[in-house]
Amino acid sequence: MNNELEQVETNKLPKIGDDAPSFTAVTTQGTINFPEDYKGKWVILFSHPADFTPVCTTEFMTFASMQKEFKELNTELIGLSIDSIYAHIAWLRTIKEKIKWNGLENLEVEFPVIEDIKMEVAKKFGMISPNESSTQAVRAVFFIDPKGKIRAYMYYPQSLGRNFEEIKRVILGLQKADKEGIATPANWKPGDDVIMPAPGSCGLAKERVENHDAETYCLDWFLCFKKEK
Ligand code: BEZ
Repeated sequence: MNNELEQVETNKLPKIGDDAPSFTAVTTQGTINFPEDYKGKWVILFSHPADFTPVCTTEFMTFASMQKEFKELNTELIGLSIDSIYAHIAWLRTIKEKIKWNGLENLEVEFPVIEDIKMEVAKKFGMISPNESSTQAVRAVFFIDPKGKIRAYMYYPQSLGRNFEEIKRVILGLQKADKEGIATPANWKPGDDVIMPAPGSCGLAKERVENHDAETYCLDWFLCFKKEK
């Protein structure tokens, strides 16, 4: 393979349903081996363009303020940027000691942040968008399930801070769909009614509409909901 092609191949975005690429990385919490160290857990692997930058600082503070909520959802956070471990340490110390923003302060980032100066992990996950920057990752978020499969991802430019309530909603929606075999409608939030899979036969379609129980209702044969309240 020539060099240019190899570069393109190694910076390819993995797709939903793919096994998440494996890696060993040095982080602010020691070396991690993925996926071995994360068996049975959901993982949110996210990249940010650079330490000591304003949007990234607000994002890290927000994620740090939600660490407990994600732990309660059996979800581990892993950050990454193309910076050294020393830059990460200095930035995280600054965030804890000096930065107050939006009612947040004194926040300790307890999740691992990968040093990826050689872009090895970033390239495995297609986190570099060369027309945006060839030396910094974009704001990518990979949602990885307990079997190590990529279930969703977000891909944001440098200028746009991510919505962390949406990141949590994605985890909640994926976990609910797996547990109950349902789907979630537009703008779903926990507590809202959920969608039943469309029936796969004429008999089932008729049954759905004519004989549904008190827990369900149909707007048409293909659009049936399960009540949550
Ligand atoms: C930021 O986080 O503010 C930022 C990072 C890289 C480029 C532009 C902005």
